[in-house]
Amino acid sequence: MTNFFHEQFNGRTVLITGGLGFIGSNLARRLVALGARVLLVDSLIPKYGGNIANIAGIETAVRVNIADVRDEHGMRYLVQGQDFIFNLAGQVSHLDSMTDPYTDLEINARSQLSILEACRHGNPAAKIIFASTRQIYGKPSYLPVDEQHPLQPVDVNGINKLAGEWYHIVYHNVYGLPTVSLRLTNTYGPRMRVKDARQTFLGWWIRQLLEGQTLQIYGDGRQLRDFNYVDDAVEALLLAATREEANGQIYNLGGDDPISLLDLAELMIAIQGRGRYEIIPFPPDRKQIDIGDYYGDYRKIRSELGWQPRTTLREGLTRTLAYFSEKLPAYL
Ligand SMILES: NC(=O)c1ccc[n+]([C@@H]2O[C@H](COP(=O)([O-])OP(=O)(O)OC[C@H]3O[C@@H](n4cnc5c(N)ncnc54)[C@H](O)[C@@H]3O)[C@@H](O)[C@H]2O)c1
Repeated sequence: MTNFFHEQFNGRTVLITGGLGFIGSNLARRLVALGARVLLVDSLIPKYGGNIANIAGIETAVRVNIADVRDEHGMRYLVQGQDFIFNLAGQVSHLDSMTDPYTDLEINARSQLSILEACRHGNPAAKIIFASTRQIYGKPSYLPVDEQHPLQPVDVNGINKLAGEWYHIVYHNVYGLPTVSLRLTNTYGPRMRVKDARQTFLGWWIRQLLEGQTLQIYGDGRQLRDFNYVDDAVEALLLAATREEANGQIYNLGGDDPISLLDLAELMIAIQGRGRYEIIPFPPDRKQIDIGDYYGDYRKIRSELGWQPRTTLREGLTRTLAYFSEKLPAYL
């Protein structure tokens, strides 16, 4: 696959919005290794996931533009001449989307529309890969959740990500832009945000474990989740970018062997060789937007694009804990 990707990306121009964030920076590293000419656009809004430390070692191999995707004029200029646009910039906190719904709307919906408008007028051939989310399904009606599952978001973030996704699909159907949307599930790995629990509990657990604090599990700990190691998510983004039959399509990602939060905490503690957890009642603001059990059905992307996750949870967590054991101070 690496040879195929090298042929596809070597010397090509690639824009990654949200490129200093967790998934964007891991994608950037892979693209640099494949010979792409990479431009990262990121606002570096302090409470979000962007971090200059994420591009340590590749800083001279990429161009970085500290810009906000809400700046329509700036984006019109930045999309020009790009062969690929990985559209990853996002407000990603579900809780924040409830307390500050307009910012979520501006970033996750309106800006997506203006990036597509910028491409329609200035670069209609650019392949655009959108990072959507399993959050748009809301509380599952059945498991595993496939792409036909009803879309019933439980929070403002889910609604705006759904709009962002569908702008991409409509701009393909109506204007012929080559777009594709991947509905990511819980993604984890080196360079994820571990600062607090606003974005993902797993990042917060990693920090707590490394600092010797007690992991807190809400509810009864039996909620099931599936996880993708970031390298597997990056592989899916690259595949979707390079395959024409993916244009206009929506694909779930998903992990094998869904795991309960309780078992996940125990696995992390076993890998780290120390740690403890406690089970506490759900805080009310979280309970209201909790989705219960979730795991995705990724058979569509497996059969159409040949993607499947390769990294086991144990292996991925081991690598992630090793990374943050060394680099935690850069992420606090
Ligand atoms: N990590 C996951 O588990 C997961 C799951 C589902 C979907 N996703 C989607 O994948 C994408 C990337 O997520 P991530 O986990 O890497 O998060 P992240 O927070 O690490 O990365 C998002 C990046 O976008 C940047 N950004 C935010 N608002 C911006 C703006 N207005 N202008 C420019 N840049 C801005 C942030 O600074 C950050 O670097 C997001 O769109 C998210 O919705 C992630």
